[in-house]
Amino acid sequence: MADSEMDKKGQLMFVLVLALSFRGCSSAANLQQSMRKQTLSPDAIRFGSSVLFQIQGKVYPDGYYYVSLNVGQPPKPYYLDIDTGSDLTWLQCDAPCSSCTEAPHPLYRPNNNLVFCKDPLCSSFNLPGDHKCETPEDQCDYEVEYADHCSSLGVLVKDIFPLQFTNGSLLRPRLAFGCGYDQLVSDANSYPPTDGVLGLGKGKSSIVLQLHDLGLTRNVIGHCFSGRGGGFLFFGEDFVPSSGVVWTPMLPSSLNKHYSPGPTELIFGGQPTGVKGLSVVFDSGSSYSYFNSQAYQAFLSLVRKDLIGKPLREAHDDPTLPVCWKGTKLFKSICHVKDYFKPIVLSFQNGREAQLEIPPEAYLIIASRGTVCLGILNGTEVGLENLNIIGDIWLQDKMVIYDNEKQQIGWTPADCDRLPKFETTLL
Ligand SMILES: *[C@@H]1O[C@H](CO)[C@@H](O)[C@H](O)[C@H]1NC(C)=O
Ligand SMILES: *[C@@H]1O[C@H](CO)[C@@H](O)[C@H](O)[C@H]1NC(C)=O
Repeated sequence: MADSEMDKKGQLMFVLVLALSFRGCSSAANLQQSMRKQTLSPDAIRFGSSVLFQIQGKVYPDGYYYVSLNVGQPPKPYYLDIDTGSDLTWLQCDAPCSSCTEAPHPLYRPNNNLVFCKDPLCSSFNLPGDHKCETPEDQCDYEVEYADHCSSLGVLVKDIFPLQFTNGSLLRPRLAFGCGYDQLVSDANSYPPTDGVLGLGKGKSSIVLQLHDLGLTRNVIGHCFSGRGGGFLFFGEDFVPSSGVVWTPMLPSSLNKHYSPGPTELIFGGQPTGVKGLSVVFDSGSSYSYFNSQAYQAFLSLVRKDLIGKPLREAHDDPTLPVCWKGTKLFKSICHVKDYFKPIVLSFQNGREAQLEIPPEAYLIIASRGTVCLGILNGTEVGLENLNIIGDIWLQDKMVIYDNEKQQIGWTPADCDRLPKFETTLL
């Protein structure tokens, strides 16, 4: 299929296949208040604390959000693509590297810190065929394959991750991650120019699960991607607002290896579209969102119908975004066009109903030539079959929480430009 398609799309970093794998405005004050409460709850103190990271990056034109993470002793910084669609964190690695892409920092150098097959962590990776361990003394190899057919191959290592916790402690846990010395990418030019991937999926290799197993933090992950670029990411539950979050249960791993809320109905402009039972995953590793053929077709014809008689003409001039419109003047901001479009609602019916509202500004993009384009793509065209992807674009200007302890996904509108403050003096 569409390797050439994939080249065009680029920046498709969501993940699937192999054992593991498959990315407004209110309430900052609320957030701080509730956070303070949470920090003080006896439960939170007993079970450690949280870690907060500043996010950089943007949906368009960057195509990804990333954090800077320090690894090693002495610590060195690395930029990691935030990917809730895969589990394994890995760095491009000088092992030596047979195929690395251009990276912002020098490659990570392992130093006698390999994870061996006898380590229980290794067996939890469920490696396919060629990479199976033969003896306990073998090094533990890994391979991650992403849905866009990109992959990373390497060996597991353990190293120090200096982390500043919200309670004021600076800790240096040793965590296992991938040292990737053979990256297969469909198009190096469109590949995120990061040093690696921060895998935040719910599988066993997740570094947040490792932090949890060390008793350091709850296995809860949250991100807040600003539509203006940047935002914040956290591990642990100190920043989860105590109210105002819409929660829906996540499907158990036996049914879906990714963060999936179960059968989903598509509502457009407040009206049912007849599209129901969609299988969707939350994937911060994908910059855009993807519908399967049926949902894409239904959605596109409703959007086109609404634009009849409006001063917008279809235009095809952005190679990565196939559906765009021109106005009588060049568009400079979404504000100029959003009134021509209606909101999308995804309604999740797993247990009690929960709705994810996606306003036009979270599915439209003002492209470089002043056209307005859909940030929702045809998943069937890129081989996704029946999977629908909630990518970064839909997750903008919301706090999205993956609570692996209570097995639920939550979201609430948020001001992602403001890093929540935490007060160490409170403890
Ligand atoms: C802060 O949290 C960390 C991680 O959970 C814990 O190990 C440490 O003891 C805590 N420090 C204080 C001062 O409570
Ligand atoms: C989506 O892609 C599939 C596969 O290329 C194609 O058959 C279908 O017509 C496309 N749907 C729309 C609405 O463009």
